[in-house]
Amino acid sequence: MINVFGSINVDIAVGTARLPLPGETVLGGQAHVCAGGKGANQAHAARCFGVPVRLFGATGDDAFAATALGCVVAAGVDTAGVVPIAGAATGIAVILVDGGGENSIVVAAGANLAATAQQLTDADLAGGRCLLLQLETDLFETMALARRARAMGRTVILNASPLQPDRLPDLDALDILIVNARELAALDGASDPREAALALARRHAIEVLVTLGGEGALLAAGDGKVLTVPAYRVPVCDTTGAGDTFAGVFAAATAEGMDRHRAMDHASAAAALACTKAGAQPAQPHREDIERLMAEHRPAPV
Ligand code: RIB
Ligand code: NA
Repeated sequence: MINVFGSINVDIAVGTARLPLPGETVLGGQAHVCAGGKGANQAHAARCFGVPVRLFGATGDDAFAATALGCVVAAGVDTAGVVPIAGAATGIAVILVDGGGENSIVVAAGANLAATAQQLTDADLAGGRCLLLQLETDLFETMALARRARAMGRTVILNASPLQPDRLPDLDALDILIVNARELAALDGASDPREAALALARRHAIEVLVTLGGEGALLAAGDGKVLTVPAYRVPVCDTTGAGDTFAGVFAAATAEGMDRHRAMDHASAAAALACTKAGAQPAQPHREDIERLMAEHRPAPV
């Protein structure tokens, strides 16, 4: 079982050949409205991988709440720990996807900022092998939860996204940090991802897992060890939620007892598959899709 504390959004996504310049209006394609939010996306990815998942967070009391929770509920995520906040708006993400599948996102966090660490009792924390966090909820609440879970011996994983330079997380409260190259650069000045990850891992005695898009992923440990996995090549349609898919599957595989390298490999394959379809949660693969892609790419025995 894993616990996920995080954001729950409705994503409103529009494809456009190119992103508009400031002050410019461009004509886009059809708008897609679907379930998103980094917390819900990661919970959904982990559930689709096959582990029991409990999601904690907050929605508004508006009509968007049902849409925001639709996919996680259908997938069997336990949402009893999600609270509706009276008078608040459900989180909304406005997403532009360009012709190359790359996205730009603005999040109106709304009710997500009302989610608190107190929503998880000590029994809730004890019941999950991993606690998976992101940065779309209140930073103070998120870190308070990390410290409690760590003190109880749970594996605390933070996907430090979206990272705001004026709201940096306390890395000492973590076991595993997951970041992309841009987030890593904001946390450590070294220009080489491997060196930056090793420096952070040593400084905070944590493991630092860096997703590198087409270059795969690397994990640096405090003792100087580095693991790498290559990226899986797929036709890219929409990268929205790929990082969430990576984090959710990595946490699920880790909670299952998989070693780091295999968990990273499964996460890398899952993230690649998430890029082949539009949207965040609707694009997330099931375990058999992930393992099929991995088997196709495995070098034939000689
Ligand atoms: O990581 C992708 C997610 O970021 C989207 O689903 C959107 O809701 C924003 O939270
Ligand atoms: Na996608």
